[in-house]
Amino acid sequence: MMVDRYGNIVGWGKYVPSRVITNKDLEKMVDTSDEWIVARTGIRERHIASPGEHLSQMAVEASRDALEMAGIQARDLGLIITATSSPDYLTPPVSSQIQHALGAKDVGAFTLVAGCPGFVYALAVAQQFIAAGGCDNVLVIGAELISRFTDWTDRSTCILFADGAGAVVLQVSDQPSGVLSYVLGSDGSGADYLIVPAGGTAMPPSQETLDKGLHYLRMDGNKVFRFASRVLGKALEQAIQQAGLTTEDIDLFIPHQANARIIESAARHVNLPEEKVFVNIERYGNTSAASIPIALCEAFELGRAKVGDTLAFVAFGSGLTWASAVVKIGERLAPIPVRRHWLSKPEWLSLDPLLGITRATSSNAIKILANVLAPIGILLRRLIGLFRS
Ligand code: ACO
Repeated sequence: MMVDRYGNIVGWGKYVPSRVITNKDLEKMVDTSDEWIVARTGIRERHIASPGEHLSQMAVEASRDALEMAGIQARDLGLIITATSSPDYLTPPVSSQIQHALGAKDVGAFTLVAGCPGFVYALAVAQQFIAAGGCDNVLVIGAELISRFTDWTDRSTCILFADGAGAVVLQVSDQPSGVLSYVLGSDGSGADYLIVPAGGTAMPPSQETLDKGLHYLRMDGNKVFRFASRVLGKALEQAIQQAGLTTEDIDLFIPHQANARIIESAARHVNLPEEKVFVNIERYGNTSAASIPIALCEAFELGRAKVGDTLAFVAFGSGLTWASAVVKIGERLAPIPVRRHWLSKPEWLSLDPLLGITRATSSNAIKILANVLAPIGILLRRLIGLFRS
């Protein structure tokens, strides 16, 4: 890609609901077992939104962190792209709710629907806007609240999906950085492998659709699995080649967290060793379009990803769709600031249990303690670094 305007990722943030459902919890709801879920998917627990929590709120929380890290105000944005298949409403577009809540006055915003790869699609679009000179700062969000479409009596789907949001800020840079290459794919012949049949214009909601549970997500897991195994490795390989790189040049592979076995097969396809693969599906489940930005953010927090790294993303999902990208994290102009708000909003910590068996992630006291100690730890490390240098 011959451009002298690159979209460097300079800010990132994530938000997940405080409520956690473990495999043991699911054992009490459907005929399943912790052993089966771990062996077949790699998932141990997932975050599920409380009834009063909305997708727009989760997206705003993640976005605020991303903007803070980027060191810019919401009004400095040129564009907001929200990748999601589970907006607050069919209309208005949730991207405008997010724009308004962020205080990004009059900033253009749209929602991008491309299933789980939506975030990677949105990154590619953001890069084009920056490369073409359309804007200098783009906020890209991946957010999903799939639990609202989940049939909690269907063991083939309720064990997989979860809620959350992740966001990044792409900022113009003249150094090769940001999205170096991408591959976007679609095959609508598999539309019914993963579908919410009712609620759209083809099958508007009615008493009958409610009675038949047609407003819930239906999935042919085997067919989706076979499709993913076929396209993922290839898409990853294509993106690496298009960037003019080889597998050895990739510092970290951050795949869509759908199934640990699918991730392993994609990594094997391009000979990526285990230590270069970031997997957090164990604690988050499949958060669809939010899974890559959540994983990216966590990879930074854990020191697995850092400035200067070359990352590879790949995702697949409903449509059917797939997408991959090679992304370089370029040098930042401003230092990474210390996070101020790591807590969930207090009102969202309230317990309104799904089927009466859920609980908060951890006690408020532990979260507050961690919130206080973490910045002190970072400051101490910086001071020690200053004295040493
Ligand atoms: N607990 C226990 N047993 C189960 C469960 C469960 N939760 N779910 C299914 N089973 C049973 C089945 O009924 C079947 O029993 P049978 O042999 O008696 O008929 C058996 O386990 C095997 O079922 P399979 O469907 O063949 O199991 P598989 O190994 O394929 O795993 C899974 C199922 C995990 C859903 C897998 O197919 C998969 O991950 N597919 C991809 C799904 C996916 O990633 N979807 C999302 C993509 S898009 C997005 O991310 C939004």
